[in-house]
Amino acid sequence: MERGQFITFEGGEGTGKTTQAERLADTLNAMGYETLLTREPGGTFGAEAIRDLVLSGTQDRWSGMTELLLMYAARIDHVEKLIRPALERGVWVISDRFADSSMAYQGYARELGKERVKAVHMAVMDGFEPDLTILFDLDPVLAMKRVEMRGEDLSRFDSETMAFHNTLREAFAEIARENTPRFEVLDASASREAVETRILYFLAQRYPMISEKLLDETG
Ligand code: TYD
Repeated sequence: MERGQFITFEGGEGTGKTTQAERLADTLNAMGYETLLTREPGGTFGAEAIRDLVLSGTQDRWSGMTELLLMYAARIDHVEKLIRPALERGVWVISDRFADSSMAYQGYARELGKERVKAVHMAVMDGFEPDLTILFDLDPVLAMKRVEMRGEDLSRFDSETMAFHNTLREAFAEIARENTPRFEVLDASASREAVETRILYFLAQRYPMISEKLLDETG
């Protein structure tokens, strides 16, 4: 059986990636590709427990390094128990955030430094990488308006300063430049429909069989 594809969505807070991840999973399932939607930190029972630890509480609850190691502890469980077995069964996996978030948030925004995050990544991930990563790029001022409009409780990260969110945006842009073949960068200020179409276009460019299905649908 052909291995499934592993697609990750990355970006700052309030960029709309969660909604789009749901839409893409629905579309792929409707096309006949069994698709699993998951998220980080989280995705498995153990990783969701770590998620609660790392996202709640006060800003200074964890140091950057503790945060990084908690994220990777959650990630290892997620990859070993859920993602890798699904891909091997031929299932496509979409993850709302993955390792690039650790580089952007802990490496850049929490100032641990690229090299340390890379060292942890190399030590524990055994070369495992997404096949495609879609970066949702959006001005943090707009993004924070969206987060406020959602009216949910803010996580430890949502309530960071604007400087933190600006650093994150730059960080993700740099990570995308350094990993060009894996990344597609998306202008997340466009309408939901336009963003959804753009994502399908990225997939159609990479996967000829998806391009054929889209052409069939549009007649
Ligand atoms: P979530 O509420 O899912 O935010 P979003 O909707 O923006 O994805 O919370 C996940 C938070 O965890 C988010 O602020 C980013 C942060 N995070 C890290 O700091 N490092 C990581 O490795 C991951 C996966 C997430």
